[in-house]
Amino acid sequence: MIKTAVILAAGFGRRLGEKTQDLPKGLLSFDGIPLIQHSIEKLIQARIENIVLGTGYLHEAYENFAAQYPQITCVPISHYQSSGSMNTLYQLNKHIHEDFLLLESDLLYEKQALKILLTHERPNVILASGFTHSGDEVYIETNEQYRLINMSKERSLLSSAYGELVGITKLSLSAYQELCHYAERHLATQPKMEYEHGLVAISGEVPLLVHKEEGIAWCEIDDESHWDRAVKEIYPLITVRDCGEKPIKRNILLNPGPATTSDRVKYAQVVPDICPREEEFGQIMAYVSTELTQFVADPKEYTTVLFGGSGTAAVEAILSSVIDERAVLIIENGAYGKRMAQIADVYQLNTITFPSPFDQELNRSQLEEIIQTHQKELGYVAVVHNETTTGLLNDIPAIGALCQKYNLHLIVDAMSSYAAIPIDMKKMNIHYLAASSNKNLQGMPGVSFVITQRSLLEKTKTIKPRNYYLHLYSQYDYFEKNHQMRFTPPVQTLYALKQAILETKEEGIKARYERYSKSWETLITGVTRLGMSHLVDINNHSKIITAILEPSVPGYDFNEMHDFFYERGFTIYPGKLEGLNTFRVANIGDITYKEIEEFLTLLESYLGPLLKKVK
Ligand SMILES: Cc1ncc(COP(=O)(O)O)c(C=O)c1O
Repeated sequence: MIKTAVILAAGFGRRLGEKTQDLPKGLLSFDGIPLIQHSIEKLIQARIENIVLGTGYLHEAYENFAAQYPQITCVPISHYQSSGSMNTLYQLNKHIHEDFLLLESDLLYEKQALKILLTHERPNVILASGFTHSGDEVYIETNEQYRLINMSKERSLLSSAYGELVGITKLSLSAYQELCHYAERHLATQPKMEYEHGLVAISGEVPLLVHKEEGIAWCEIDDESHWDRAVKEIYPLITVRDCGEKPIKRNILLNPGPATTSDRVKYAQVVPDICPREEEFGQIMAYVSTELTQFVADPKEYTTVLFGGSGTAAVEAILSSVIDERAVLIIENGAYGKRMAQIADVYQLNTITFPSPFDQELNRSQLEEIIQTHQKELGYVAVVHNETTTGLLNDIPAIGALCQKYNLHLIVDAMSSYAAIPIDMKKMNIHYLAASSNKNLQGMPGVSFVITQRSLLEKTKTIKPRNYYLHLYSQYDYFEKNHQMRFTPPVQTLYALKQAILETKEEGIKARYERYSKSWETLITGVTRLGMSHLVDINNHSKIITAILEPSVPGYDFNEMHDFFYERGFTIYPGKLEGLNTFRVANIGDITYKEIEEFLTLLESYLGPLLKKVK
């Protein structure tokens, strides 16, 4: 059992400018407590009993701070001004008598980082993460057995970079002694040597394993940009992960949203009560708005207008707010296209509908013909990207190109494509996009949003409002001026959304779609193996939701099958097509193809006896 931790805290922290004039970096207050205290509390919780703090710059401040912790021994380092971290580590040799954890003083990290090292069977382990792109990273090169070969801030100096140094390392006493021998030989000529250099130097003699934990939440704080990243992205992630240790019962939602969420998203809702008119909450909404924009467009030009409401609210906000006296052409090839037409009808918009088969690719020349026929009166085209009724994927780039040709504004309901299928609003010529928090974003229901260009919004100002709550320009304008929503926002859903955004960024939209696609391919293979078929050709399929034709065998009953699955933790969804018996399976949310395999096993066990009877 490791009982000792050594923290290197002698440095100046110069890159933080005035912040470190009167306090060493480790004592700067972060979320109300000194930076180093975040680490010390976690070390103590992990049953570390002795913490050796190598101090230098403003060491008295550390001594005052350490007085509250009997576990800490402060050791002032001589010549810290002109030396590097290897000198600090070397000078601590009188206090290190056993294997220990070595940490830098300016780290924020999730508890899991300590757990990985403390439970690792190997005695010398360097913790690495995936690439953070945070600036000032130390890259690690390993051999095929993941043993350390080299480390450098210059990636080009390495043959290949396996991961990034976190700054938490487990070292055996004998490895430390080897390090000290090296230091004795070289510190006189290289006083500024960093400890990383020492580790590389002894790696030929002492096997130092590099353990990479791809998505571990951590950061180092060297400068203002690091500080900013810590506040906005990493610390919230750490907080949620650290409190999310108790797993919540996992249900696999195969309905097309709300989707299965991670525990971190669920726990993100457990926050102190806050009035949403406080600046602190305004900052959260501003962050959410910018990041949602960033997924599909440049936030300098585009913006996201948030509403409290389900997805339909965003679609209705667009249709009721941006359309002037000109006509809107609504493409109707599923239930959600139809819904847009119903909304347009309620507001008595000048509407032309273009019905198209729900299971076939849109006929573009017919679409162009109808546009030409109505060219004089037409101003807008509205379409659903991924028709959730069937999984039919409408070709937005092609429709966008047509809109460009005829100078029409394109409205896209991207409810079940956003955050999975990569979208570039500018390239695809999308003028208004509607989506919500609870589908591929993997957040909680309650927030819907519209993404559009600011300049376009300004122009909608002159259209007479057709409603009060969903008026897009008023919602935008109020937020710009006050950093608040006009009316009470769903506070906890927004906290969850922030977390869901962080996880979306962590995974990346492209990788998310690859994960979804793998689940979908697993589903299609399995369903076909069972002799069932699905609607929509795979070439026009979104790979997100599938309408499966129900087997026509005696004894089959969707509701019964639903209950069979529900009791086993899976939720499936009825079809939404008149005259065709289908049920639907969505493969979105925080699930993988493994859960789809489990679903298929259950499906086989449910349908097998029914199908046998027929034979
Ligand atoms: C394409 C599409 N548009 C709109 C909606 C409506 O969203 P909500 O039910 O959240 O109002 C959905 C819901 O599934 C959808 O899939």
